[in-house]
Amino acid sequence: MDSVIEVEDLYYTYRDGTRALAGLSFSLPRGCRVALMGPNGAGKSTLLMHLNGIYLPQRGKVRVMGQEVNARTAREIKSRVGLVFQDPDDQVFSSTVEEDVAFGPVNMGLPPAEVKRRVDEALAAVQMEEYRDRPPYHLSYGQKKRVAIAGVLAMGPEIIVLDEPMAYLDPQGKDTLLEILDRLHRRGTTILVATHDVDMAASWADLVVIIKDGRTLAQGDPSLLVREDIIRRANLRFPLVAQIFRSLPELQLEAVPYTVEQAAALLRKILAGRQT
Ligand SMILES: Nc1ncnc2c1ncn2[C@@H]1O[C@H](COP(=O)(O)OP(=O)(O)OP(=O)(O)O)[C@@H](O)[C@H]1O
Ligand SMILES: [Mg+2]
Repeated sequence: MDSVIEVEDLYYTYRDGTRALAGLSFSLPRGCRVALMGPNGAGKSTLLMHLNGIYLPQRGKVRVMGQEVNARTAREIKSRVGLVFQDPDDQVFSSTVEEDVAFGPVNMGLPPAEVKRRVDEALAAVQMEEYRDRPPYHLSYGQKKRVAIAGVLAMGPEIIVLDEPMAYLDPQGKDTLLEILDRLHRRGTTILVATHDVDMAASWADLVVIIKDGRTLAQGDPSLLVREDIIRRANLRFPLVAQIFRSLPELQLEAVPYTVEQAAALLRKILAGRQT
């Protein structure tokens, strides 16, 4: 398998003694869409900080595109893996929105015309062009999140990692972000999203990785999200679509649908059966 990210027996303990990662392992195929899930405090954000070299493994290994993340490679890996932080206040700091989005491309040493092209494109993608001259600290939280996402898009990374990107986005902002992620996916970008949104994970992800107490609890396709044992152990809930069909035991379904498309296909089949 062509793994783009490999995490092997990773441990991380914060300075105050909190053990956030405790022997975490998983690997991701190139070009996949991954939902990283798990309860509050499971270690998701701590893990993501390892994927672009902000944190270095205390024990175990992280490999990105075959390259081991360590003090020597961290800088290069930062330019290949774009990370959108959970809290935009940790990421957005320049005096204007435009400067903020340009920060990554400028640091990559790109010529000014290319920087401008990328900034324009990224701001248009998140629908924030009209805010380009505004200071980011005066923006709403959701607008700051959009700017943080634009900053990472402008770097054109091969892997994009987003920590709770949907939080604080309005419903249309969420749809816009999903369209952006679809576009990146079609270009072959590997996308990892940490999220508590089971409906989004069920309909969007190719692969779901569930972690708890700093370890991998389960990894597989989104049908994991209709497994009662996993739902219970990972503080999740069933996707809404699955909840509807679970409340209809008279249908005697072998497999419960968990996406709108699956549900529509099933209902069509049931309707066709009634007409004959
Ligand atoms: N800077 C820090 N110092 C000490 N402990 C920390 C720090 N950051 C996180 N932790 C602890 O590490 C553990 C993992 O936290 P982390 O933020 O990675 O969880 P998470 O899965 O992202 O949670 P959430 O769903 O709430 O975002 C938690 O017990 C948390 O309290
Ligand atoms: Mg987190």
